[in-house]
Parts: sequence; structure tokens; C-alpha cells
Amino acid sequence: MAWFLLSPMSQFCARVLFALAILFPASATFAAGDPAAGQALSATCGACHGVDGNSINPEWPSLAGQGERYMVTALRQFKSGERGNVLMSSQAALLSEQDILDVSAYYANQTPKIGTAQGSEKMLELGQLIYRGGILSRNLPACIACHGPSGSGNAPAAFPRLAGQHATYLITQLKIFREGYRPHKDHTRQNSMMNSIASDMTDAEIEAVSYYISGLY
Ligand code: HEC
Ligand code: HEC
Repeated sequence: MAWFLLSPMSQFCARVLFALAILFPASATFAAGDPAAGQALSATCGACHGVDGNSINPEWPSLAGQGERYMVTALRQFKSGERGNVLMSSQAALLSEQDILDVSAYYANQTPKIGTAQGSEKMLELGQLIYRGGILSRNLPACIACHGPSGSGNAPAAFPRLAGQHATYLITQLKIFREGYRPHKDHTRQNSMMNSIASDMTDAEIEAVSYYISGLY
């Protein structure tokens, strides 16, 4: 974590670290799922998320290699209605708490495909600047602080893996976060630190950083 302290955004990072210490005490425990039972459940999921958890539809997220803890939270949120999506909510409704643990353990152990960066060079440059350095003048934090230098996330802290995710999916999610605490149609994504981060981003910035991320591996 030494790079963290050297960052010009150390002041902001200190605040983030402080918030993390409160949100994720070291003592937090996490029940493990059974990946073999999860594999059996994954047959239905594959129709949208890809047979190996690598989605081929740009609107649907890949799950291969995603953090277990993040997936468990996401599935509980879809099930409770806290996070809404017309396609996914009905799927999560069918899962028991044990199913959620098992299927998350299965996907966390699958191998993510290497992403390919699309978009113009200028766009990818802006995306890289935002991802790696944030926008200091507007207090926009660097994405790298939580999602990691290679976009692989931080599994114990439940910061999701973003690397190789389709840009279209990422753009949609950032715009949902930007809408903040107002439920929008069937899309809801509330109570997240991403709401305040995305609230400050323009469409162009969201697109640039999403195209950049989709090429990370
Ligand atoms: C009919 C298509 C469909 C099927 C089948 C489906 N999903 Fe999904 N899933 C989606 C869509 C679409 C999203 C993105 C929702 C959004 O925009 O928030 C999603 C999101 C997710 C997420 C959140 C990913 C992230 O990065 O935040 C998880 C976890 C997930 N699905 C797991 C599953 C599991 C496990 C199954 C099988 C039991 C399954 N899905 C079946 C369409 C589907
Ligand atoms: C302080 C930590 C933190 C920082 C900094 C941060 N994120 Fe996040 N990000 C999170 C967390 C936590 C989630 C999960 C939120 C949820 O599901 O409610 C998340 C979720 C996301 C998602 C949704 C992923 C998925 O699979 O659905 C995207 C996209 C995203 N972040 C992009 C970014 C970008 C782009 C930046 C930089 C501009 C950034 N994040 C900065 C913590 C952070």
C-alpha cells in the first residue's frame, strides 16, 4: 500500500482510509459458500452472464473472478429490492441465502477474460487520468484507491472488480449511481459511496473512464 501514501491525493486518501476503517473492521467474518453447489446453480445464470461467467452481451456484467463478498451483497440487494433490475431481480428472488453464498463462491473462482480497450486515444487518455489520479480540482477521488491499479478490486473490502467489464455496463451503472438516492424506473443503487463519486461526473468523463476500465486486466 506504499503507493497510497506517496499519492498527491494523500489527504483525500487518508479520509477514505478512515472511512474504510469504520466500515470494514478487521474482525468482520464472512461465511464461505460451496463452489461445487454453486456450479450446479450457475446453469441458469449462464444464459446472461456467459457459461464461464464472462458475459458476451455488453449490457450484462461478467461475474468471473468478481469478489465473493461483493457478489453476496449484490444478490442480497437484488433479492430485497434494494437494488432493482427487471432481468436480475426475478433471478435473485429464486435464490436462498445458502444459494447466494454458493453461487458467489463459484463465480469468484472462475477466470476472467482479458478485456479489450475500445474508444479513441484521446478518450482513453482522459479515462486513465481519472482512473489513476482523479480530478483534484473537483475533489473527485482516483478510482485506483478502491478498485486497485489493475481494476481487480479489493475482495475483502467488497470493492468490486471492474477490469474487463463491458464499457456499456459500466456506463449504465455510473449513471445509476449519479442519480443518487432517487429510485429511477426499475434501476436503484442506493447507500453507496459511489453515489457521491458519480454525482460529480459528466457524461464524457463517465464514458472515458468506462472505456479505459474495460481494457484493464
Ligand atoms: C435474464 C438475464 C439474467 C440472468 C438469467 C441472471 N442475471 Fe444476473 N444480472 C443480469 C443483469 C442485466 C444484471 C445487471 C443489473 C443492473 O443493471 O444492475 C445482473 C447483475 C448481476 C450481479 C451483479 C454484478 C455486478 O457487477 O454488480 C450478480 C452478482 C448477478 N447478476 C448474479 C447472477 C446469478 C448468480 C444468476 C443465476 C442464479 C444470474 N445473475 C442470472 C441479468 C441476468
Ligand atoms: C472509496 C472507494 C471507492 C472509490 C474511490 C471508487 N469506488 Fe467504485 N465502487 C466502490 C464500491 C464500494 C462499490 C460497490 C457499490 C455498490 O454496489 O453499492 C463500487 C462500485 C463501482 C461500480 C459498479 C461495478 C459493478 O460491477 O456494478 C463502478 C462502475 C465503479 N465503482 C466505478 C468507479 C470509478 C469510475 C471510480 C473513479 C471515478 C470509482 N469507482 C471510485 C468503491 C469506490
